[in-house]
Amino acid sequence: MDKTTIVILGATGDLATRRLIPALFHLTEQRQLKDYIIVGAALTQCDASEVLQKAKKYISDLDERRWEQFEERFFYVSVDFTRQEDFKTLADQINKLESEWKMPGNRVVYMATSPSFFCPVTQELSNAEIIHKQDDDQQSWTRVIYEKPFGHDSASARALNECISNYLDESQIFRIDHYLAKNIVGNIALLRFTNRVFEPLWNKDNIAWVEIVLSETSGVRGSGHYYDSYGAINDVVQNHILQIIALIGMEAPVYLSGEFIRDEKARVLKHVRAVDLLLGQYEGYQSEEGVAHDSTTETFAAAHLTIDNARWQGVPFYIRTGKALDKKETVITIQFKEVKCLLQTSCPTEPNYLRIRVMPEPGFALVLNVKKPGMIEEIEPIAMDFCYEKRFGKVPENAYEVLLQEVLKGEPSVSVREDEIEYAWNMIDALKKLDRPVYTYKKGSHGPKELQEFAHKHSMRWRL
Ligand code: BG6
Repeated sequence: MDKTTIVILGATGDLATRRLIPALFHLTEQRQLKDYIIVGAALTQCDASEVLQKAKKYISDLDERRWEQFEERFFYVSVDFTRQEDFKTLADQINKLESEWKMPGNRVVYMATSPSFFCPVTQELSNAEIIHKQDDDQQSWTRVIYEKPFGHDSASARALNECISNYLDESQIFRIDHYLAKNIVGNIALLRFTNRVFEPLWNKDNIAWVEIVLSETSGVRGSGHYYDSYGAINDVVQNHILQIIALIGMEAPVYLSGEFIRDEKARVLKHVRAVDLLLGQYEGYQSEEGVAHDSTTETFAAAHLTIDNARWQGVPFYIRTGKALDKKETVITIQFKEVKCLLQTSCPTEPNYLRIRVMPEPGFALVLNVKKPGMIEEIEPIAMDFCYEKRFGKVPENAYEVLLQEVLKGEPSVSVREDEIEYAWNMIDALKKLDRPVYTYKKGSHGPKELQEFAHKHSMRWRL
């Protein structure tokens, strides 16, 4: 990996403290990151060791000697993101450190800031020459990582894309989605396209419907203020769930890598259409810290979506997500159509389905019908179950380590391209235009009771 300077903007925030700094430390432990310096920046007046002390709590089994080595390469500069002069100070510091540490000027800048800073800060970084638009003659490179949410509707996402494209080439922009760095999500395309058994069946003639559930038991905890202005649709449907739909729905890419996958995902996202929507809010949400006492923000969403193309025409994609629900799980079910039942006493037989478990226990199961032993004609569905951890041992699930590693390599598949993000927001705008009421539901439940009516209306049965 190239010698790299990593700049974290928002270095004292929650994301940096809990996820980024621990992930970077782990990468150094695994020797994935060797020649580096890290420069943190945020408004807080403090020093590097205070920033690191906070993050240290989130690292288990820490090796003190390695931590000391990490500390030596970690620096901090206090920066007010609204003051031009502060970016000049930051630039001077980075240049000075790079020359002391003999770094060639390759830079990854991580925007772990409020999204409202994405555009103005990119501009300031460019003015201060901390980032450079890539051209062929340059010896070093710059990459910038944008956390979600990237925009709050299609207009704002477009404006943001336009803004940052003045300062960076698309190849330098990483709009990341941590779901794309989850092992099993990254494997959906591989599962489909390296197994002959699936692809011929992967279409409207053989698949009855697809269900995607991203359910969480926790409420909004410390993020009430952010969440209340976004809601479940913006928070997880626009990104994680639509990315899963794109991976399930896409045509075979030329190669199973970077831009080829993005090309195919973009084609799917362009044609996802909203059919129906059900919204909910958990009881007690309005009393959460940072949440408006009369908030109508949805903490739960179920939707019927469809993909308008030859492969998927008419196949419902049912999605469901929410906070404060009964289970923490992310599961995708591909329900195949029923077969004509040729038995005499055991009809109808259960349709087959493929279940992809993102969490817990990543893996997948193909459910088939078998005959029970004995002289009886009795059929039972059984799962041919594959669990990653049972087969390969513990799968490290720190998506941020994977994300950072991929960005350091310049690999784009963990990030979402300009066109993908705009298509996704177009679809979300249309979904919200359905303008549905927000029903309440009990914490720890399955969601609003209206979910049953929703199922009835669509003649479907939630698998989970
Ligand atoms: C984040 C959302 O992107 O994804 C959170 O902002 C949500 O609200 C989280 O809790 C879910 O991620 P995971 O990896 O826990 O399924």
